[in-house]
Amino acid sequence: MKSQLVKLPGLVDVHVHLREPGGTQKEDFASGTKAAIAGGYTQILDMPNNTPPTIDLKSLKNKIDLAKGRIYSDLGFNFGGNAQSIEYFPKIYKKAFGLKVYMNQTTGTLLVDKNEEREMIFKYWKSDLPIMVHAEGETVEIAIKLARKFKKRLHVCHITPDQLSSISKARKAGLKISCEVCPHHLFLNQKDEKKLGPLGIMKPHLLTEIEQKKLWQDLDKVDMISTDHAPHTLEEKYDQTAPKFGVPGLETTVPLFFEAISKGKITLKRFIEMTSKNPKTIFKLPKQPQTHVIIETTEPFKISSLNLFTKCNWTPFKNLYGAGKIKKVVLRGKTVFKDGQFIDKPQGKVITPNV
Ligand code: NCD
Ligand code: ZN
Ligand code: ZN
Ligand code: ZN
Repeated sequence: MKSQLVKLPGLVDVHVHLREPGGTQKEDFASGTKAAIAGGYTQILDMPNNTPPTIDLKSLKNKIDLAKGRIYSDLGFNFGGNAQSIEYFPKIYKKAFGLKVYMNQTTGTLLVDKNEEREMIFKYWKSDLPIMVHAEGETVEIAIKLARKFKKRLHVCHITPDQLSSISKARKAGLKISCEVCPHHLFLNQKDEKKLGPLGIMKPHLLTEIEQKKLWQDLDKVDMISTDHAPHTLEEKYDQTAPKFGVPGLETTVPLFFEAISKGKITLKRFIEMTSKNPKTIFKLPKQPQTHVIIETTEPFKISSLNLFTKCNWTPFKNLYGAGKIKKVVLRGKTVFKDGQFIDKPQGKVITPNV
């Protein structure tokens, strides 16, 4: 195939962990938004499982202050839902996007595993923005039940194929429910986990080859692609006593999916829907005028961990084939990234929902 230039809207990711404050050895607002732009993402939403977690007005304002003047892409924040944070819900509706509820154990201290606490959270969230759940396996049924009981919009993070029939059923019954798929669940499987060792550990864990195939087959039921960019240092990943869950992903989505597009596994139109149109609508993201990305399609090349902008500096997709490179990123009429180089100082803005 001849190399071609393809113009895309700036990519959007509603699920990234930029680790500031509390984990800036692995990422910070500057390095994380550089990784975003270098990967073609112009608008991203940060998750609340920091130390301290983003569960009150003070911690949210602190993130906004820390980000100002240092971010390369536009950046918004999701808010953490737990018993303590309920009182702040009315105060953050116009400042934050989704309400993130961790129904199973993962990185951080935001686990909400008691049903009374979950009920209260679903009851008191009065915004039209989605409640985003980390709900592994059958836990998704509990989330769906709560969303129906309290008539709330639900967004299921990092879905696995076993969850798609429950989601389709709820959708048919009239529930406003969306879901996202992560590149690592589509492009890696448990065989890779053997090679990757701790670098292949994340929540939910990698799928079997059969499940991975099913996920590709059912992709039409999925609203969006989210990277769940969850950087940890190599030291933390190889820690024998407590290896961390999560992998980085912002800089590898475009090459991986352009390879999949060239193989006919997904269309370019569908990729654009899943990385900009759908997340923008569902999360009421502001418009980004005069913003686009130029992708150069390439012969298949091996993805490497050299030249990454994420501070963690590794990728679980190393040695997989990619077939597209970010040639140029234009944000509000200004070229901010070209041929691997950032141009000028950070041009990103802190964003708030269109409500
Ligand atoms: C995420 C992290 O490290 O913050 N880890 C992960 O394995 N996905 C948390 C999460 O999204 O569950
Ligand atoms: Zn060719
Ligand atoms: Zn999660
Ligand atoms: Zn996550």
